[in-house]
Amino acid sequence: MKSSVSVVGAGIVGLTVAWSLARAGARVTVYDSEPGSGASWVAGGMLAPYSEAWPGEEGLLALGAQSLALWEGFATALQPYADGPLITARGTVWLAVDDGDAEELATVTTAVGDERLFAALRPSAALRTIPGAAPRIRAAAQAPSELAVDNRLVHRALLAACAATGVELRAEAVRAPSDLPGDAVIVCAGADSVDLLPGCAVRPVKGEVVRLRRAPSCLPPPEVTVRARVHGRPVYVVPRADGVVVGATQYENDRDLAPRVGPVVELLGDAFTVLPFLREYELVEVTAGLRPTRPDNLPLLGRVDGRVFAATGHGRNGILLAPVTGARAVDMVLDQEVHAWN
Ligand code: GLY
Repeated sequence: MKSSVSVVGAGIVGLTVAWSLARAGARVTVYDSEPGSGASWVAGGMLAPYSEAWPGEEGLLALGAQSLALWEGFATALQPYADGPLITARGTVWLAVDDGDAEELATVTTAVGDERLFAALRPSAALRTIPGAAPRIRAAAQAPSELAVDNRLVHRALLAACAATGVELRAEAVRAPSDLPGDAVIVCAGADSVDLLPGCAVRPVKGEVVRLRRAPSCLPPPEVTVRARVHGRPVYVVPRADGVVVGATQYENDRDLAPRVGPVVELLGDAFTVLPFLREYELVEVTAGLRPTRPDNLPLLGRVDGRVFAATGHGRNGILLAPVTGARAVDMVLDQEVHAWN
């Protein structure tokens, strides 16, 4: 008989888990009162395990690299359900503005420890790959295999893919995972997971993100994701078909979703320091989201109790880690291995 699985949460992680299980033969129902209203909506969509690497986070680096390797196949399988190209950039260029920023870049380079994945780039070469970038760069590096995706298109495509694969979506809030039917229940509820699994150690970490649209006569968005450190502050600019996403602030601020003026102005100022032409873009949207973060920055993937499982706590990396999380869910719930998406 077919296994039946309830999934709590219809963000990118929850829908990827649901789609993965349905493709593997399970009967799947997803519960979410507001599908895609959380971090999946706010995110920039960078798939960047290398340019966010840090000493002591080797487990996260390995998991991110594994999921990045799955992403091409995942995007190819998902593309027929999408309204536009899911992948919006190939490659990341990392720019350091001052000596301290260059030291930080050296730490990232050492943490990756593989020149094929993350390699120093002469500032002049970096600037040639980003027309319109400011000329005063202290150091640079590139991660050629990293990708960026349009997270909102990914989410919409996953809704369509799930529907086409027989996944049922119920717009219902869940009070306790054990109330739900099925042979297994998987909690993929992002920052809300702690309400459903009190021991999961997921806390919300706020981030503000700005969306800008290219105005007529402006330079086009860069073709690569641009990540920079500007006098100690991080900023990234992720290309979209019609503009860019600028992100992101990061601070512990409970569940407050109101963007704050000061941090957003500072974020935009840092983006303008490296890409001055963005000043002429149109301001489309400022949003704040909550990264579901665990103390070790690794997601919780496994059985919690009886038939209840967790696939949550992906922190800054929910979109990157979605394909590997889907594969792990199939493995842990259906005891099948998934090696590729196509
Ligand atoms: N992954 C980027 C961020 O969380 O801001």
